[in-house]
Amino acid sequence: MAEATYNFGMIGLGTMGRNLLLNMASHGVPVAGYDISAAQVALFEKEGEGKPVKGFTNLEEMVQSLTKPRAIMMLVPAGKPVDNVISNVKPFLKAGDIIIDGGNSHFTDTVLRDQALDSEGFHFFGMGISGGEEGARKGPSMMPGGDKEAYLTLKPIFEAIAAKVDGDPCVTYVGPGASGHFVKMVHNGIEYGLMQLIAETYEILRKGLQLEDAAIQQLFAKWNEGRLQSFLIEVTRDIFMVKAEGADHLLVNDIKDQARSKGTGKWTSQVAMDLEVPIPTIDMAVAMRNLSKYKSVRTEAAQLYGDKKPVLNVDQEAFLSDLEQALYFSVIVTYAQGLHLLTRASATYSYDLQLSEIAKIWRGGCIIRSTLLNDIYNAYKAEPNLENLLLDGQVSTLVQEILPATRSVVSTSLGAGIAIPALAASLTYFETFQSENMPSNLIQAQRDYFGAHTYELIGKEGVFHTNWMPLPSKP
Ligand code: 6PG
Repeated sequence: MAEATYNFGMIGLGTMGRNLLLNMASHGVPVAGYDISAAQVALFEKEGEGKPVKGFTNLEEMVQSLTKPRAIMMLVPAGKPVDNVISNVKPFLKAGDIIIDGGNSHFTDTVLRDQALDSEGFHFFGMGISGGEEGARKGPSMMPGGDKEAYLTLKPIFEAIAAKVDGDPCVTYVGPGASGHFVKMVHNGIEYGLMQLIAETYEILRKGLQLEDAAIQQLFAKWNEGRLQSFLIEVTRDIFMVKAEGADHLLVNDIKDQARSKGTGKWTSQVAMDLEVPIPTIDMAVAMRNLSKYKSVRTEAAQLYGDKKPVLNVDQEAFLSDLEQALYFSVIVTYAQGLHLLTRASATYSYDLQLSEIAKIWRGGCIIRSTLLNDIYNAYKAEPNLENLLLDGQVSTLVQEILPATRSVVSTSLGAGIAIPALAASLTYFETFQSENMPSNLIQAQRDYFGAHTYELIGKEGVFHTNWMPLPSKP
């Protein structure tokens, strides 16, 4: 049996698991990693040469090598693999040991696992981790929720390895139960929305304005220097610099236009529907990933309807300035929708989420990090109970400023036949959000007409029903 000298154990030495452990080891934390694959274990030990790391292909030995109470994180694919790992490791653990699920588990699974493990005397918490490979190695953003006592035991380690913004670590205890995984799921929903908005902007640039790749690259580079500065714009800028191997054109132009997904965006939309929170930009992003998969159907339709060449006849410089505003507007609306979902979920599930703290830990390390998150942080810091980001004073001033340009870009692009569903959804969500009077009175009348579902009246208490028939022959 190995000596109990390691302070943290990992099950799953994939890219994320290895890099997170190496990050800990670089901060002086002795770490042990287990993987079923000897090759992964060897790779981990090689990458960790000179650092306090040890790899195992025997789970029991890995567990025995840990100091007590043992802290073990699982970084395995969501779903059944997580339950399998829990059943496999439990026989080697003692009451009081800590199990952390660092993957993208569905929050309802985390609730069940939490209850089961708690009743057996184990400490368990779910922790969303964002930042991909580089984030894990150099500083991720982490969203732990659930067993607070267990988190506090490990807080020094997580704070040491987290990304830092202005010296503040991008990790905080977000709330009880499955709130850590819920917050991470919404992070991913926002990620889907932002990625779709950037893709639609690219569509406008390449099809509408017929810009060359180099010009697109320069534009994203320029935007990244301004208020749109964010990891996803930065990534996009870089993608437009990478050529296909041995070729003179960009790799991105060789990639199939079929976007894959692992489910977190879909879950965000599903939960938002359950909680009756409108997040149409994110819904649209999920729907468009799905539509992208129907390549052969789209190809057939393109032949049927004629593959149109939507060219924008606009003053390019002025339009690009408007486009920057429209993208920024839609990005604000996307964060607003995701954060609104968090507000409602917090009330429904008693998570007691502090949205300013969540914005704060999203400012660094994670995929949706952006300069805008500073403003979002300030908005929720000033008004912790803000129902929707769009009600913040500074945000509303900004939104009003960029609204005309957004309307112009959306209408011009739609008019030319360019598909911009998420940009349009962001704008129409906003237009409706700011309507005191929606046309929903008519929907109520229709429901009452055909189903006697009743309606309420302006300025009069109670519910009413009308016998709308027989139809008058003349109005
Ligand atoms: C992160 C990412 C990460 C992963 C997504 C990708 O925060 O580091 O969100 O979790 O890249 O799950 O999701 P899709 O495969 O669904 O696009």
